Amino acid sequence: MKECGSINRKQLIEEYPVGTIFDSEEVDAIRRVLESGEALTRGPDVDLFENEFASYCGAKHAVAVSSCGAALHMATKILGLGPEDEVICQANAFWATFVHLLEREVRIKCADIDPYSLNIDPSGIERLITKKTKAIYLVHHGGNPADLEPIYRVARNHGLKVVEDCAHAVGAEYKGQKIGCDSDIACFSFSTHKNISTLGEGGMVVTNNESYAEMARGLRTNFPFGEKVKRNVPSLGDYHKPQSQAFMHAGDAWDYDWLKTNEFGSTFRMSTPQAAVGRVQLKKLDKHNSLRQIIANKYNEVIDGISGLRKVAILPDCRNAWYLFSFFIRPEAGVDRDNFINYLEAEHGIRTVLRYWPIHLGGIMRMHGHNLGECPNYERVWFEEQMSLPISPQMADDKINTIIEALRSVYQKLAK
Ligand SMILES: Cc1ncc(COP(=O)(O)O)c(C=O)c1O
Repeated sequence: MKECGSINRKQLIEEYPVGTIFDSEEVDAIRRVLESGEALTRGPDVDLFENEFASYCGAKHAVAVSSCGAALHMATKILGLGPEDEVICQANAFWATFVHLLEREVRIKCADIDPYSLNIDPSGIERLITKKTKAIYLVHHGGNPADLEPIYRVARNHGLKVVEDCAHAVGAEYKGQKIGCDSDIACFSFSTHKNISTLGEGGMVVTNNESYAEMARGLRTNFPFGEKVKRNVPSLGDYHKPQSQAFMHAGDAWDYDWLKTNEFGSTFRMSTPQAAVGRVQLKKLDKHNSLRQIIANKYNEVIDGISGLRKVAILPDCRNAWYLFSFFIRPEAGVDRDNFINYLEAEHGIRTVLRYWPIHLGGIMRMHGHNLGECPNYERVWFEEQMSLPISPQMADDKINTIIEALRSVYQKLAK
């Protein structure tokens, strides 16, 4: 590769540290909570945010939590998955999508992706199902809705649950309806880079299943789950059951005999100020996603005009939330993807990202017997074709134009 000019780091156009826009409304919401004297956890804003988020998605229940990772962790507990079970997980999931499965020794079967949408390929799922399979874990990659109808059809036919990792897909739409509206369990992220943020961390479990929602509420707040029977003992030895309200949390020391414990919760709650900010952010979400859409349209227009590049395929009647803007080099163009990335950065100061490492090639997954060749479509795409450009509702036109010009210029330079 020819030596490239060097760009001062300050000039880099890269992924924005914050994926949303905060202004005085969020500051006012924090001030309101702090000045109200209400508890900084479990305050009324948490319930309100949950109701508003559930209704935005068109789902029955939303449970606010500390992160999407926590939500996914809880989903695995809700489904009671363990060492006897298998789960199908797409090859380009994020570590947080499946780390809790490893922790609980659930066997993971890696599903290849559709190289056009970057989402799980529904046609490859059935052959991975065995008697032990309990669930499908999918990611709406980059905010692009996965093809849910055939996936849920396979799941229903085989009695499987679907856990949707919607970390990228807040506000995305599948066939005219918001992602999360009809899910078994959908897990959202409001961390710093995401399309909306609850002050850097945060997440939501969304479900239409009443008992899943109830369990999620317990799991985020240290509850044990299992089998217990009611008992009514007036005393323990010489000690009498206190009647005062001061002892009301003495709980099952007096009232229950436990027969078996299955799961324990942890502290996975979202704080009240975070929820207050989330409510403001939710009102801005569609506007921010439209700003992302405008930028994506501009990038895609250029990509359409360059024969060796191709854009991400979006299903009809679907809306991408454009958390990531991914695109591809066509192999037949003869342009080396890594050179393309290096030139974009060295000569134009544009830093692309590659999301995500094929899960079956990670060290721990190889320890469990996974290896190269398991998901050939994703391996090819990840190693040779895919990359993502910076995209943010904060992006000014000059930055967008710099990227557009750079795409043309680098392609012309490298194309044979
Ligand atoms: C696909 C995916 N799933 C889960 C997560 C974890 O989200 P959080 O940081 O809210 O735990 C991320 C974070 O970027 C992600 O990209």
